[in-house]
Amino acid sequence: MDTAKSNFKWEGCRGDRSMMVEIDRIVHGGYGIARVEGRSVLIPFTVPGDVLDVEYSKNQDSPFGWIREIIRPSIHRRVSDCPVFTLCGGCDFDHIEYRKEREVKKGILVEDLARIGGIDLPCKIETLFADEYGYRNHAQFKVDSRGEVGFFEKKSHTVIPLPEKGCLLLQEEINEYVTRMRNKVSFPKGGFRVRVDISGNIYTKGIPGKKDDEFFHYEISSLKLRTNIDDFFQVNNFLLGKWLDRIAHYLRPAQGDVVIDLFCGSGIISLSLAGIVHAVTGIELNRNAVMNARFNANENDLDNVRFIHTRAETGIDDLPVGCKIVVDPPRAGLGPGLISGIARLHPEMIVYVSCDTATFSRDVRMLIENGYGLGGITLVDMFPRTRHIELVALFLSR
Ligand SMILES: C[S@@+](CC[C@H](N)C(=O)[O-])C[C@H]1O[C@@H](n2cnc3c(N)ncnc32)[C@H](O)[C@@H]1O
Repeated sequence: MDTAKSNFKWEGCRGDRSMMVEIDRIVHGGYGIARVEGRSVLIPFTVPGDVLDVEYSKNQDSPFGWIREIIRPSIHRRVSDCPVFTLCGGCDFDHIEYRKEREVKKGILVEDLARIGGIDLPCKIETLFADEYGYRNHAQFKVDSRGEVGFFEKKSHTVIPLPEKGCLLLQEEINEYVTRMRNKVSFPKGGFRVRVDISGNIYTKGIPGKKDDEFFHYEISSLKLRTNIDDFFQVNNFLLGKWLDRIAHYLRPAQGDVVIDLFCGSGIISLSLAGIVHAVTGIELNRNAVMNARFNANENDLDNVRFIHTRAETGIDDLPVGCKIVVDPPRAGLGPGLISGIARLHPEMIVYVSCDTATFSRDVRMLIENGYGLGGITLVDMFPRTRHIELVALFLSR
């Protein structure tokens, strides 16, 4: 039975005691939780239903434990096909059947909403998903002083070499490209970036002897998009269209609507709605992203969108009341100041795109306190095999 690899060096998990436990559930961060001596111990690479011999520290401050032996594996446990699974920092759930992984993620969201947001979910959570491998259009490779190419080990800056067949999460063209380059050039210590569009065209930064690409170009649902090579762009090729559809499904864009897109990046959400609604305003802190958003509006002949370069927290005060609002913040979420600012605009609905269930759950509480009710929630599994959870939620004015 494949289990957590014994050469994994995460010392924080090591301990001087051991005990037999059964894993009940997986919690935020991707850890299985077990009760030992009256306290909770978090154990990576476990599956609900696993019966395990775990080691842990008697030091009460150390919350982590480690699998010593799998006594009885969960029926949902599988053997990972990746030779560096548990060493490489990329994946957390490659030992769990994909159907169960989606259930686990739903469970984490429900628990965070209850524990952090203090709410019992008033609606069903839907899940959108696609193939769990080969979905990523972007990778940031690391290179160590010996020129070894790979990804950082969990909780360290040691480079775990990319397996011969590449990384299972990456679109095939990225693996093929990196394998070819590894045999051709020697990489200096540091790293490089590779992106691939839907047609398989490669864009890079940091490849010795090759001019860096300034931009990454992408086409989705007949929208032509450009971002700077270093800037944020959604990574999951298979779900990008479904994700945009779900945002529109909740927002119900209509001809007369004025929409505000907070944290708009290079404009993907704004531009996907602009063809339907009266007007869209995007707000974004990254100057290059704003420049690209304006370029993208022009390229797609959309003249009812404007993009403002400012912090969402300050830009919100100059926006008109009565719009529909979409927010897609970084992991830090919205926070009280921005939520008050949004509430002052009295939007009839807010569509909240989140990549962090903990900050989302905190913000749900505050949105409810500001007069909004949760009208729908969809988990869009943009990051299969990893602990990261993406969701789209609808809030309606009560
Ligand atoms: C999760 S990304 C979403 C981008 C865009 N919606 C997309 O899907 O491509 C979050 C964006 O928020 C921007 N950002 C971070 N902090 C911000 C702030 N305080 N005000 C406005 N934008 C911010 C980042 O530069 C980034 O483009």
